[in-house]
Amino acid sequence: MRYTLAHVSDWHVTSPAGCGLRELANKRLLGWLSWKQRRRHRHQPSILRSLFKDLKRQAPDHVAVTGDLTNIALPQEFAEAARWLADLGPPSWISLVPGNHDAYVRVPATRSWDLWSEYMVSDEPEAEGVAPTGTAPTPDEFPTVRVRGPLALVGVSSALPTPPGSAAGRVGSGQLERLARTLAELRARELCCVLLVHHSPVDDGFTPRRRLQDSAELRDVLRDVGADLVLHGHGHKTASSTIPGPEAAIPVLGVRSSSHCEELESRRAQYHLFGIERASVGDGARFAFSLETRGYDAATGGFGSEGERSL
Ligand SMILES: [Fe+2]
Repeated sequence: MRYTLAHVSDWHVTSPAGCGLRELANKRLLGWLSWKQRRRHRHQPSILRSLFKDLKRQAPDHVAVTGDLTNIALPQEFAEAARWLADLGPPSWISLVPGNHDAYVRVPATRSWDLWSEYMVSDEPEAEGVAPTGTAPTPDEFPTVRVRGPLALVGVSSALPTPPGSAAGRVGSGQLERLARTLAELRARELCCVLLVHHSPVDDGFTPRRRLQDSAELRDVLRDVGADLVLHGHGHKTASSTIPGPEAAIPVLGVRSSSHCEELESRRAQYHLFGIERASVGDGARFAFSLETRGYDAATGGFGSEGERSL
């Protein structure tokens, strides 16, 4: 039976307007200037609304969101993003990992990630840490695990506060160790392990200040233990590559921002719709994937198919 998974990322439509000077007296000032000059024009709520409408019409079995819902991690932005999440659908249907903008500066969990907790928490025994109800996973409670149909959605957090000018990410040795154990258990259950992470495990296309700092260590875990698909955001560009896995190459797919207006064709908003089926015996890979790209059309204001292919 074919299972369908939508992948959206980097919404960036929450507004820092009206925040006080005290809240900007740190790294946020640079981010606020960037939002004021560029981001608020590039990322349009109307486009994200249109994407939601199309996505709901496509009715995938599940939705993956790979972070950067906010701009400068203000408490008002977390509350606004929570309303966008609720508008998209119920937590049981949507799995979320945070991005670097969602950890722009340190914010108490009660005023930030906790507001998204139901979309982030684990609901499987393989997860080594399960956050109490109403609270988001702490760094020690990632990776998260959610099983839906044949999929195990494994949420990795690469988001952490970084110095001004840096948009880098880090998974960390503790999370990598837990990830290796978790993937081994899930793969023993014959589940299709889909890794969700904001930063790409592939460095190509990212300057050092935007990369995952321990990408090599993450690739080592995936090469040794295996995963079936890796989905990431962060680049606001389409990215498609593979990394070595234990039996077969692992596809790594990056999706564009869900809200980017059409100023540059290569950045115009898109989302991905995967079809997932068990592969025939002897194919090497355990699962077969099709990928439909659905993109924003400025002429109609709607989203439509821009092509389909096998991975
Ligand atoms: Fe990002």
